[in-house]
Amino acid sequence: MRRRNRRGGLPEDHVVVNALSDSTNAHSLKRRVVREAGLVRAPGPVRDDPRPEGELFTFSYGAAELAWERWVFDSGPDELALAQLGPLLFVDETIWSTLGSALNPERGRLLVLPDLKGSTLNQVRRRIFTVTAMTAMIHCDFKGWHVVDVGAGDGLLSLVAAQGGAASIDLIDSDAQALELAVANLDRNRGSSLGIRVIHDDLRNTSGVLRQLTRTSRPTAILTSIGSWPEIYDVTNADAIRMVPLLEASAPAVRVRVELLLGAGYYLGEPWEEGGRRWSARVEAFFDDLAEVQRTGMETCGTTAKAKYNGVLFTEAWTATARSGGRAGSRSAGHEPTS
Ligand SMILES: C[S@@+](CC[C@H](N)C(=O)[O-])C[C@H]1O[C@@H](n2cnc3c(N)ncnc32)[C@H](O)[C@@H]1O
Repeated sequence: MRRRNRRGGLPEDHVVVNALSDSTNAHSLKRRVVREAGLVRAPGPVRDDPRPEGELFTFSYGAAELAWERWVFDSGPDELALAQLGPLLFVDETIWSTLGSALNPERGRLLVLPDLKGSTLNQVRRRIFTVTAMTAMIHCDFKGWHVVDVGAGDGLLSLVAAQGGAASIDLIDSDAQALELAVANLDRNRGSSLGIRVIHDDLRNTSGVLRQLTRTSRPTAILTSIGSWPEIYDVTNADAIRMVPLLEASAPAVRVRVELLLGAGYYLGEPWEEGGRRWSARVEAFFDDLAEVQRTGMETCGTTAKAKYNGVLFTEAWTATARSGGRAGSRSAGHEPTS
């Protein structure tokens, strides 16, 4: 059982151990699926990977490293069939149809994707950002929460929040096709009680997006893994962070309260280059966003989720919680993240 920190969705550190103990069940279920579906280990993720059998990325939160494995059908190295991140198991729909009723008792423990191969989890490098965000999410408790997935893409973070017990989810993206995939992914797995709202809009249309968001007095979490990619996207995580006070002020009668913020998608270097080159502009975006979080009155947590390539940092995901004493006076409080 994961226990929620009184102030937000983040558990106390010792709960990390409990969250990871869920992985034991995931490991045995994974072994079973691998054996019965005849899967083979996926080759390494980087084209010039000198060790094709090795998955050189590792994902950690504090001292805890999560298992990260990808398995493919023996028909080809790109035929992703199963991906494991600690307690999370994602399987392709065909696994379900192949193994049929034998897997029925495991229905709630596997996240079934209609097209795992076409999902972000099968995209070289890009998946690392998503998986890092998930690494942070595993240590959050979404039970009964409302979640806003900003730049939802194919909805994998929403899927994890749903499995973590989220009551409702707003998905925002400007890409209609991505949202269709997100809904298909959620529909395949969600129980009847999960409410989802699809907001197909441009985040730059702040007031329009705000108008469409769910107003609820349930604790709200905002997830954003857009990162800072000015050459690709015209918005960044900072735009999502700035939504916090706007959303809270938009419906005083409902008392909307953002209790948890999660930011991911930061490109902190090219660790496969000799010595690991860090891109200063990218690193600045990470710290600028933490400063932006402070301005909202939320408090960034010291522990971040990290992805390393061969031991060198590639990306990081931060979380922040509402302060127990409310927003007042919080602007001056400094809080350095650990790195
Ligand atoms: C890096 S992807 C993250 C996808 C997903 N959340 C994940 O972690 O796998 C960023 C997403 O932000 C969306 N996006 C980019 N600019 C946007 C904008 N101006 N308004 C809304 N969504 C936007 C993209 O369409 C894309 O799906």
